[in-house]
Amino acid sequence: MSESSLGDALDAATRGVPVAQLSAAVRRLSERYRQELPASAPLMGSAIDVLAYAAYRMPATYAACRAALSMVPADVSISSVLDLGGGTGAVAWAVDALWPGARTTIAEQVPLARDLGARLATGGPTVTAVPWRLGESLSVAADLVTVSYVLTELTEEQQDSLVSLALSKAESAVLLIEPGTPGGYQRVLRARAQVLGAGWQIAAPCPHAAQCPLVAPDWCHFAVRVSRSALHRQIKGGELSYEDEKFSYLLAVAPRVEMPAPSARVLRHPVKRKGLVELTLCRPDGTAGREIVSKKQGPRYRAARDVQWGDDFDSKTQRNV
Ligand SMILES: C[S@@+](CC[C@H](N)C(=O)[O-])C[C@H]1O[C@@H](n2cnc3c(N)ncnc32)[C@H](O)[C@@H]1O
Repeated sequence: MSESSLGDALDAATRGVPVAQLSAAVRRLSERYRQELPASAPLMGSAIDVLAYAAYRMPATYAACRAALSMVPADVSISSVLDLGGGTGAVAWAVDALWPGARTTIAEQVPLARDLGARLATGGPTVTAVPWRLGESLSVAADLVTVSYVLTELTEEQQDSLVSLALSKAESAVLLIEPGTPGGYQRVLRARAQVLGAGWQIAAPCPHAAQCPLVAPDWCHFAVRVSRSALHRQIKGGELSYEDEKFSYLLAVAPRVEMPAPSARVLRHPVKRKGLVELTLCRPDGTAGREIVSKKQGPRYRAARDVQWGDDFDSKTQRNV
């Protein structure tokens, strides 16, 4: 992790900016983002919008990307990243936390967002910011290509073309990440079909390439807890010292990458009772459902006690051991 933290960089960038202006922009932006509708023009339209976005969303998108990127298989080496629709550069901070020194190219249509992303990263992650809008050509390729909270602003046709661009620009891995809403999950599912159709493999969260076994109103999503800074509480309101960021994601790896044997994925907070753990799992055989693991199951019970929502449930701890 770089010496300067994202929180410090955000505090420095917003110092002296009237809180009332930031709060008004946060209200406007969050109302618009909640609609999850395609945007015909950039949603961040001014310097204050860009600053407000960075202050209220970057800590959460950073944390979600970091959690999803921690699923990149250990022997996939990442030294370059292309972040499509990179905004103010949250992905670069997550990349730097996991692969210190890796370079992230932020490809972004809004000049003020690119500028702020580069400024925030001073003394932090290694970034280059380049102008780019979907449909324009891009000469950069990278080990890893990320698309973080962007599909939500696009039509289905644009989503397909962005996913196809991401696959064409990635040497080893692609991360698609969306809000953890039913709509975000549907966009990830749509992209999943495209990724599999292109011959790529899913590294996470699905432990299989079969049809998603979840049935509405259920949807596949995960959560990270994000601590809220004083600045965040001032501009977003509310007293809690944390918020839970929900996200849906797909981490795909190139056909040539050798994948470890898949493990079941924990789909809910495990419920712990005396001598029992109740898990909800998505399994390598393409099924999903609940499983009660009892103390009698020894190593499997000990593993069940330690896992968290979103983790792999290690396939080495066989059933009924
Ligand atoms: C919600 S922000 C996400 C920013 C950043 N990726 C993050 O995770 O914090 C959506 C980003 O997608 C970009 N975007 C939206 N439509 C785009 C398009 N047609 N071409 C390129 N970028 C686009 C926006 O400019 C914005 O930076």
